[in-house]
Amino acid sequence: MVRTSVVAGLGAWLPAGVVTNDDLGRELDTTDDWIRSRTGIGRRHIAEPGVATSDMAVEAGGRALKSAGVARADAVVLATTTPDRLCPATAPLVAARLSLGPVPAFDVSAVCTGFLYALATARGLIAAGTADRVLVIGADTYSSILDPGDRSARAIFGDGAGAVLLRPGEPDEPGALGPVLLASDGSGEELISVRSGGSREPFRRETAADADPYFRMNGKAVFRGAVERMSQSSRQVAEESGWTADSIDRLVAHQANLRILHAVADRLGLPRERCPVHLDRVGNTAAASLPLALADAVAARRLLPGHRTVLTAFGGGLTWGATALTWPDVQPA
Ligand code: UT7
Repeated sequence: MVRTSVVAGLGAWLPAGVVTNDDLGRELDTTDDWIRSRTGIGRRHIAEPGVATSDMAVEAGGRALKSAGVARADAVVLATTTPDRLCPATAPLVAARLSLGPVPAFDVSAVCTGFLYALATARGLIAAGTADRVLVIGADTYSSILDPGDRSARAIFGDGAGAVLLRPGEPDEPGALGPVLLASDGSGEELISVRSGGSREPFRRETAADADPYFRMNGKAVFRGAVERMSQSSRQVAEESGWTADSIDRLVAHQANLRILHAVADRLGLPRERCPVHLDRVGNTAAASLPLALADAVAARRLLPGHRTVLTAFGGGLTWGATALTWPDVQPA
């Protein structure tokens, strides 16, 4: 008998520093009007220099434990594309700083789909009996990999962390994770990438002048892929849950661009108001995007217990996915 995973806690954390569109406009050739009309984003939070992904992950993870009313978890799965270091993984440090003891802790790398991949991995640990309570964290410090002169990327990305605690439970209880769809297409590797600093093009002091350590994205191609894949995957998990696409109460989609959210809602025949919007205040926070959007929607009472909820994301890899659940009575801490 496979054990079901249930969402039991939710935590969010944003760095205090806020960068508005006007702030960007004073530094780059851009305007509040351009950014708002093309993306829906008004501002984003940016980590102070010296603040790393683990620092934000600890904050969000601790809050998810508190929200669930527990002090400990048996495992930590951390989704991030901006680990503290290339080596080792960031999750063990997070587990140690949360005083969780010698628990399994590892990173999952699936860019903006990372949180869904981490959730699915955590579900597997619970199903196999490897762990009971798993802390699933999405945390990213994109400000550490953005080209200071790239007005397109700087307009959309922000920093932050979000987390959920999963526990074993019954398939028919609120919060039980339903079908999970995960997918990838590595032929799209070049559309979102950091070229230098990996094994393909190692960082060498002698060739540093030719290196490109920054995040690069082909925004237009990614935009099209995001609309296509997030609407397809949402439809599929809804149908596997026995719901018609237009009966989804809340579609919590990766917060990259308001025009993407609207296009996905339109394709599914959903009123746009059923897609909670958080990106206007935080931008695209990559792996943190889904748990942060969940926490914001619950706090604003836009996502309520009993809502038929679909989570979906798309990102570098390329990767994408979706899952479905009935939202439980869980409040963010
Ligand atoms: O999180 C993973 C998934 N990521 C996404 O889903 C992101 C999806 N992509 C997007 O959201 C959009 O493609 C962007 C917001 C990143 C860019 O918007 P776009 O409408 O696709 O613009 P573009 O990159 O095609 O650029 C159009 C023009 C260019 O100028 P020219 O070459 O036509 O003269 C850009 O240089 O807009 C210019 N531009 C800007 N202008 C003012 C790009 N960024 C800016 C800016 N301010 N911030």
